[in-house]
Amino acid sequence: MARSASVHVCSACGHEEPRWHGRCPGCGEWNTLVEEVRERAGRASLAASAARKPIALAHAHAPDAPRLATGIGELDRVLGGGVVPGSVVLIGGAPGIGKSTLMNMALGNLCASGRRTLYISAEESTAQVHLRAARLAGGALDVPAIAETDLEAVLATLERERPEVCVIDSVQTLDARELSGAPGSVGQVREVASRIVTTAKRERIAVLLVGHVTKDGALAGPRVLEHLVDCVLAFEGERERTYRTVRAIKNRFGSTNEVGVFEMRQDGLVEVLDASARFVGAATRAPGSVVLAAMEGTRPLLVEVQALVTPSELVPPRRVVNGFDRNRLALVLAVLARHGGVPVGAADVFVNVVGGVRVDEPGADLAVALAVASAQRNVPLGGAQAAVPVGAFGELGLTGELRWVGHPERRIAEARKFGLETIVAPPGSKGDEVATLREALALALPRQQRAPALAA
Ligand code: TYD
Ligand code: MG
Repeated sequence: MARSASVHVCSACGHEEPRWHGRCPGCGEWNTLVEEVRERAGRASLAASAARKPIALAHAHAPDAPRLATGIGELDRVLGGGVVPGSVVLIGGAPGIGKSTLMNMALGNLCASGRRTLYISAEESTAQVHLRAARLAGGALDVPAIAETDLEAVLATLERERPEVCVIDSVQTLDARELSGAPGSVGQVREVASRIVTTAKRERIAVLLVGHVTKDGALAGPRVLEHLVDCVLAFEGERERTYRTVRAIKNRFGSTNEVGVFEMRQDGLVEVLDASARFVGAATRAPGSVVLAAMEGTRPLLVEVQALVTPSELVPPRRVVNGFDRNRLALVLAVLARHGGVPVGAADVFVNVVGGVRVDEPGADLAVALAVASAQRNVPLGGAQAAVPVGAFGELGLTGELRWVGHPERRIAEARKFGLETIVAPPGSKGDEVATLREALALALPRQQRAPALAA
């Protein structure tokens, strides 16, 4: 019998089958069989052959190769100062978010600064790539490009051209022909990525690998590749909104806390350097609005958090969040009810972080709590006379205490810079320090100004 080029291996028990099964005949788990190239499945036995001599780590340092700056400040910062030569960076994001645009711009700048670049498109023809590049400033049109979906052809091109930096757009549309699965299936995506990583390391080519993720993660998403690559960037935001963020989820060469903010314009993505000023400038003084002094990596960022609380007929009532974690909201509402005297059990609660920004840090708790309390009481924070928005940050503990969060001095400095006067903050922050949620509410929503609460 002729051996087929691939096997299907169960990711739970390691059982091998020549054909795909919905349920593993070995362990009975569902949807665990993933197609692999046969040679790799048998490679483990070969690896045991030659013994190696260990060296002291002190002698194992790599020569310092300067990073390749993309010239896009926000992107370079997230990468930790530019692309490391020979590294593989995965850029994941929903379709239409602007991945190809960002990659076009980065390669254009690198090309203009004299680097050997290559754009490999497995999704669009070179004419389509040209159309996009023509809208972008910089050297985007000078970047050499090919349109190719065959993995072998792509690897052969990389070996011959040996660019310093290349973009491969996207990992889901390349086809490893030994595998029978459709491009984009888990087995295909894994094989494609691992072959690219091998070639990139051997030839010292920095690869920016584009990957699509869907909202529900239904597609064979780039998550299965995270361990293969050096750096994973998530490109987030909503297509209908202007602001987009790039954050590092994994970075072998830098911090994973950095976030870059961009705006999609007619002529490409534009870095947003004065994000705080814009968000504060646009902040309303209405009940339910508060300015969160957030940290996006090493950079403070002021964003407006809005809440709406309305009586509800629904059981359970609605909890709708945008830019904030839903479970975290449940916790904040529970603490508000138990320790803040703000019951919202019979009301719909909507929370929105304005501008399409996502805040994923515990420091956002207090701002969300204050926005909800202010909306529920229908009183603006700081009272009706306050001319500037109230700022806040801090983590809520389950007993109603406020907990210290990182970089309070930077958050406060940023808030002061943009004219905020009251900044409700946890103990040890040098702002308007309060120890508990109750004290925070007393400070930001003075009792004499409270209007009758909504029936909730
Ligand atoms: P694109 O980079 O193709 O997204 P992705 O590769 O993530 O799927 O671009 C997404 C959208 O951005 C597209 O609908 C058109 C728009 N766009 C602009 O608004 N301005 C521009 O300069 C460019 C190039 C694209
Ligand atoms: Mg694209």
